[in-house]
Amino acid sequence: MLPLIALLPIGGLAAADISPFEKADILTDCLTQSSVPWNTRGSNDWKLDAAPYNLRPNFTPVAIAVPTTVKNIQDAVVCASKIGVKANAKCGGHSYGSFGLGGEDGHLTIELDRMNKVVLDNTIGIATVEGGSRLGHVASELYSQGKWAFSHRTCPGVGVGGHVLHGGYGVSSHTHGLASDWLDSATLVLANSSVVTCSSTQNPDLFWAIRGAGGSLGIVTEFRFKTFAVPERVTFFIAQAPWKTEQQAREGMAAFQDLELNMRLFITNRFVNFEGLFYGDKSGLQGVLGPLLKVTNASLVMAQQGGWLDQVKHFGNGVSLDQGHPYSMHETFYSSSLYTHPLTPSQLSAFTSYWFTHAKSNKRDWYVQIDVHGGPTSAVTVPDVDSTAYAHRNYLFMFLFYDRVDKVVYPAEGFAAIQNFVGNVTDKIPVEEWGMYVNYPDPQMEREAAQRNYWGKHLERLRIVKGAVDPGICLVIRRGLCRLYRGK
Ligand SMILES: Cc1cc2nc3c(=O)[nH]c(=O)nc-3n(C[C@H](O)[C@H](O)[C@H](O)COP(=O)(O)OP(=O)(O)OC[C@H]3O[C@@H](n4cnc5c(N)ncnc54)[C@H](O)[C@@H]3O)c2cc1C
Ligand SMILES: *[C@@H]1O[C@H](CO)[C@@H](O)[C@H](O)[C@H]1NC(C)=O
Ligand SMILES: *[C@@H]1O[C@H](CO)[C@@H](O)[C@H](O)[C@H]1NC(C)=O
Ligand SMILES: *[C@@H]1O[C@H](CO)[C@@H](O)[C@H](O)[C@H]1NC(C)=O
Repeated sequence: MLPLIALLPIGGLAAADISPFEKADILTDCLTQSSVPWNTRGSNDWKLDAAPYNLRPNFTPVAIAVPTTVKNIQDAVVCASKIGVKANAKCGGHSYGSFGLGGEDGHLTIELDRMNKVVLDNTIGIATVEGGSRLGHVASELYSQGKWAFSHRTCPGVGVGGHVLHGGYGVSSHTHGLASDWLDSATLVLANSSVVTCSSTQNPDLFWAIRGAGGSLGIVTEFRFKTFAVPERVTFFIAQAPWKTEQQAREGMAAFQDLELNMRLFITNRFVNFEGLFYGDKSGLQGVLGPLLKVTNASLVMAQQGGWLDQVKHFGNGVSLDQGHPYSMHETFYSSSLYTHPLTPSQLSAFTSYWFTHAKSNKRDWYVQIDVHGGPTSAVTVPDVDSTAYAHRNYLFMFLFYDRVDKVVYPAEGFAAIQNFVGNVTDKIPVEEWGMYVNYPDPQMEREAAQRNYWGKHLERLRIVKGAVDPGICLVIRRGLCRLYRGK
């Protein structure tokens, strides 16, 4: 852990001299004086808000503020700054590294999930979404207020905050692009507590930066999204691939590389599925998917026509859509990620060889999800790669390597299982030809590697923007994400 940096004098005392408990008292006194709501330590709300989705990396905040207004957020940032405590936003709490709690002990967590209004202006199709909304709530509101949508992942409890500010890839993204590509403007509280709005014409550098690295730059209080009218009819599907040998997996994956659809390959120890979303009816899907099924020997086990919300619910794994506060769903896992171009035969072999030689003997509940993220017909690749801070538009595949247990404690050997899987593939790829996804962060990575892998050649420009909005410190925090901090 990084030591808590706390150098501001408080009433003549150096903050470094005071204990965490005293610090919590001073901080909550400040919040009270500014009328910012906060959770009493040990209360039910404290327990709910301090429990991240991933129970593996768990951290203890100094205090948890639960603002209901922008002014509350500004005041909370002022209090943190006065006392020399790092502050950061938490939205849905779904960060793989529990960055919503700061990714280390000792932060002021600014829990936004009480701020979740979604208002659609039907005349222009712009949705105003408060910074603490969860995606299922956003999707159901946009639909009920006029059958609009933007593309995003549909795990209902994931927060719009973390998701959109670091890219945001969902089953509709191949057709409709990243969640962050639908952002029209956003309003943020900066480290010095001032409120700014950014868009392509207003503070454009900040607007560039928040679409890929937003969690490091301020607290977004409100997003304004463009939307599209939802299609009447979509078909969501699952096809099962019966690959028993490494040779079959290699052949099957080679065929998968050639077909561009809203689709992913989902690999576990028990099954291998193609899963996706087709804009059209079932017979249209069969026409498009037929050749792939033929060469991969896969069979369509589910193809269901439905409306927009039916697919949202399907990909939300049956969890009720409209999630707000309180929210209490958890897993215990470790994960990592990878972006690649189409795999060469030797890269593909590295993947299948690790899968069949090593991963198969991992009896935990692991999976690898490979999304057809980019490619010539993907909407993700339409904007120029340098048009936002999201650095990896041009990659075909987005891999998520995920290893979970049904216990609270994650076993030490799990880390190597995931790291070696990734390492065996990247070992065969020149370093400038792969990247990692900051929304699937691997908190085991050292800061320098993490930042290079997440932001690549956009890192220098991000440092400049960060320096302009938060000259106090950072963008060089360990593990890639720099949390909002002022107090040097
Ligand atoms: C089950 C599951 C499935 C997922 N599937 C996908 C997927 O298919 N595609 C995909 O792209 N991602 C997916 N994700 C990853 C998800 O997009 C990220 O974990 C995302 O960052 C979570 O956002 P959050 O607001 O819930 O998390 P939090 O932990 O609350 O926040 C994550 C980070 O964002 C910052 N942040 C949050 N809100 C704000 C705000 N308003 N202003 C400034 N900073 C903010 C936090 O400070 C923190 O650094 C999935 C995650 C889970 C757990
Ligand atoms: C599909 O089945 C044929 C015939 O059994 C076999 O030769 C081929 O290797 C299989 N391919 C895959 C990808 O499973
Ligand atoms: C590949 O996997 C093996 C087996 O887990 C491991 O020993 C090796 O270090 C890995 N190689 C790389 C480059 O990660
Ligand atoms: C806060 O920071 C922004 C960005 O650097 C700057 O434009 C603004 O003047 C600052 N406000 C105050 C009150 O210092």
